[in-house]
Amino acid sequence: MTTLIRGGTVVNADRAFRADVLCEGDKVVAVGENLDAPPGATIIDAGGQYVMPGGIDTHTHMQLPFMGTVTADDFFTGTAAGLAGGTTTIMDFVIPDPKQSLLEAYRSWRGWAEKSAGDYTFHVAVTWWDQSVHEEMGVLVRDHGVNSFKHFMAYKNAIMADDETLVKSFRRALELGAIPTVHAENGELVYQLQQELLAKGIRGAEAHPLSRPPEVEAEAANRAIAIANVLGTPVYIVHVSCAESLDAIARARAKGQRVYGEALAGHLVIDDSVYRNPDPAFARAHVMSPPFRSPHHQQALWQGLQGGNLHTTATDHCTFCAEQKAAGKDDFTRIPNGCGGVEERMAVVWDAGVNTGLLTPSEFVRVTSTNAAQIFNIYPRKGVVAVGADADIVVWDPSGTRTISAATQHSKGGFNVFEGRTVRGIPTHTVAAGKVVYERGELRAEPGAGRHIDRPAFTPTAA
Ligand code: URP
Ligand code: ZN
Ligand code: ZN
Ligand code: ZN
Repeated sequence: MTTLIRGGTVVNADRAFRADVLCEGDKVVAVGENLDAPPGATIIDAGGQYVMPGGIDTHTHMQLPFMGTVTADDFFTGTAAGLAGGTTTIMDFVIPDPKQSLLEAYRSWRGWAEKSAGDYTFHVAVTWWDQSVHEEMGVLVRDHGVNSFKHFMAYKNAIMADDETLVKSFRRALELGAIPTVHAENGELVYQLQQELLAKGIRGAEAHPLSRPPEVEAEAANRAIAIANVLGTPVYIVHVSCAESLDAIARARAKGQRVYGEALAGHLVIDDSVYRNPDPAFARAHVMSPPFRSPHHQQALWQGLQGGNLHTTATDHCTFCAEQKAAGKDDFTRIPNGCGGVEERMAVVWDAGVNTGLLTPSEFVRVTSTNAAQIFNIYPRKGVVAVGADADIVVWDPSGTRTISAATQHSKGGFNVFEGRTVRGIPTHTVAAGKVVYERGELRAEPGAGRHIDRPAFTPTAA
């Protein structure tokens, strides 16, 4: 299996240059000008296009059992949708039930993920604490290539981690050379605000953002950062959605603390007016946590990406169909939380980031791929187009356009939060592990072609 990508401009996080890229098997074997095509090679004409490392989505939930149901996309449909959009690796989450063995949950998720069409790797959530959790974190790091642990500071009476769990798990992660990550929202505040809203008879999706204001997120972000500071651990904050959380990250980093932040494509371009839409199903379809925010917060997130206080872009891809969302039609606290985006992230960030001049193409690569690979220690296998790297490549047409719609998406769930948005800058080809899996609208995703990616502990490189 040999593929020559000819005539494009290679864009890495550090530089952009004219070069052909030769892939053999699942690796890049040559990058340079005027490479000869070996006999039988597939040739991709990348003239006028960019040749970039495949996207890494640091935050997805495929086939997630959550809030009494299971997400619409499984590991095949979800990773296939990613490939269609230029994302070649997803980082998903093993979420053990409280009291469940981490290893048992990990094995379940690994089983479900075997049908993945693209590469995948797992953060493991710590949702409770005892000595067995301490032990199993060690086994996961040593024997299973896990180097990040997730903590939900929200979802009281379900998967919320209390402060004891946070402190003990952060300390254990430090010892193991793994990075703690947090969903930062004060779960007690969310719960109390939800009860107050329900008691006042405010029961629709319009109540969702009222129960999760920015200060609720900022409190948890500040707390997680403070705990990490006391213990001397790095910390990675997932789906930063508001200026106040970003300020917490910026303050800590200015003092030398190693704090990383993730922005979601949705939070960058969608505002909270969606919750006031007269169609209740439309409003419900946008229920995710943290919620979409006002344009003031969106602007702050872009500045965070530009200024280096936010490092990665993800989606939190977690799709539920209209019937699933309707479980909460009379009680917004029962609407399964989550929205899609794995297929759209690259084009949405390019269109709203690069076309506007907020990001350069190299900065785009940094926040869609390279930083993720470095923070989570799979660089330079992933996150760069270079000899020896995995042949995960997206050929990007900066002048191609597409209008996003649920009618044409590969993702399941029947809804698209980016519906009707016309983006300029789209993938023409996606190469994953050396295979052309997407070509100008034709998706050739294969169940089981994706591989589990081990991530060693003690990351030596980070942004
Ligand atoms: O609403 C969301 N984000 N659903 C998925 C679980 C999580 O909080 O990341
Ligand atoms: Zn979350
Ligand atoms: Zn999530
Ligand atoms: Zn359905």
